[in-house]
Amino acid sequence: MALTLQANSLKMTRSNFGVTIMSDAAKKASLNFNDKNIDFPVYQGTLGPDVIDVTSLQKQGTFTFDPGFMSTASCESKITYIDGEKGILLHRGYPIEQLCEQSNFLEVAYLLLYGELPSKTESVRFVDDINNHTMVHEQLRSFFNGFRRDAHPMAVMVGVVGALSAFYHDSLDINNPEHRYISAIRLIAKMPTLAAMSYKYSIGQPFVYPQNHLSYAENFLNMMFSVPCEKLALDPVLVRAMDRIFIIHADHEQNASTSTVRIAGSTGANPFACISAGIAALWGPAHGGANEAALNMLKEIGTVDRIPEFIQRAKDPNDSFRLMGFGHRVYKNFDPRAKVMQKTCHEVLEATGQGDSMLFKVAKELEKIALQDEYFIQRKLYPNVDFYSGITLSALGIPTSMFTVIFALARTAGWVSQWSEMIGQPGHKIARPRQLYTGYTQRDFVPVDLRK
Ligand code: SDX
Repeated sequence: MALTLQANSLKMTRSNFGVTIMSDAAKKASLNFNDKNIDFPVYQGTLGPDVIDVTSLQKQGTFTFDPGFMSTASCESKITYIDGEKGILLHRGYPIEQLCEQSNFLEVAYLLLYGELPSKTESVRFVDDINNHTMVHEQLRSFFNGFRRDAHPMAVMVGVVGALSAFYHDSLDINNPEHRYISAIRLIAKMPTLAAMSYKYSIGQPFVYPQNHLSYAENFLNMMFSVPCEKLALDPVLVRAMDRIFIIHADHEQNASTSTVRIAGSTGANPFACISAGIAALWGPAHGGANEAALNMLKEIGTVDRIPEFIQRAKDPNDSFRLMGFGHRVYKNFDPRAKVMQKTCHEVLEATGQGDSMLFKVAKELEKIALQDEYFIQRKLYPNVDFYSGITLSALGIPTSMFTVIFALARTAGWVSQWSEMIGQPGHKIARPRQLYTGYTQRDFVPVDLRK
């Protein structure tokens, strides 16, 4: 079998998804397989690797095989671009570093949804729309009573977010752009309220209603930490840090949870069910659960002198221990979010009088030692977004069990944008991968009396 690529001139065409892609009619890949020569079109995006369109392969009675989708582009998207080798992350072309420094989360959510930064008028309307939907139906409050107080908040979020669809029968036609808009608004607006409710429920304090005169991040921190009997004064440094943490976690191309949302959405499931599926996928320690696992790891290490012991364990093929917050499927260089996260971490520690935090010292020393170790260098393992987020969230007073909830809160902006982009693409199909079957060939049933 041989695969050859032939290059020629480029031209813009409209794909059968109704979106414009850079395609080169003459650019193709040829596969010589089973004495057959099969040609596949090759598409070139505006950035990133070319893709070979293998959709016609199944007609040849053959599948590609790519467990973990290491070499598979599952869709065409215009939302987020990642260059793992160079450590670049762009949202609609804007670098994450600039968005963190100069923008705010709701503006980034608008950018992800619509492709452009909002004008002042558009921004006011979008913020008003969000503010008009921050409350949840009063009956949803009773959903929480079905959970034990010590239920993991992610278990609660999977349940209550999925249940939201029971309250919006009037706007679940996913092919209606207005319904898609109001569902996106409701999800972005209500995630902070539900997240704070899951925390308050776990500590037996009363739910705090949203206050729409507050900014998005301020509103969330107020719902998390204020109590009816006291006024809460929030440090603007901490509010800014929270907003920046939301921006950092907003979207990240076709990661595991976003792909889950897209697959659920491809069946026509309502957006609340799709986001609930995304929350469930994000929960895993290899994905969004890594920030909780990374902080627990730093606490277990405890002091700088114990770092070598854990580095040794991380390198031991017989030990399942991994440095949580290190490594990434795409980034083989620094995760650009990790750098912003480290700076934010330092600001929060200073503002909360924890500048001499041992956890931060252990984290910085662990990063320094790992980045000089051949094992990590050879495997291009660098700190990722989760490495410093745990310390930062902890310094903000957020309990470890809420870390992935906050990741889900922020990622909802990306999930609804990716979902809406897919549904808006004419001709999108239900996601239905195939397999390499290595089980039994056909055999006849054996009645139980005749079995050995
Ligand atoms: C997120 O996809 C996204 O975009 C996700 C995310 C997003 O914003 O949506 O960026 C958020 O999920 C960040 C990643 C958070 N996860 C962790 O920090 C958990 C620890 N990291 C690893 O589990 C791992 O690095 C993954 C899961 C993140 C990536 O794994 P890959 O790409 O499948 O790579 P691999 O497991 O095949 O590892 C390659 C090698 C292996 O060694 P060898 O078999 O070659 O000897 O690197 C080793 C691994 O053992 N390795 C690690 C390691 N990560 C990989 N060794 C020690 N510590 C680690 N953290």
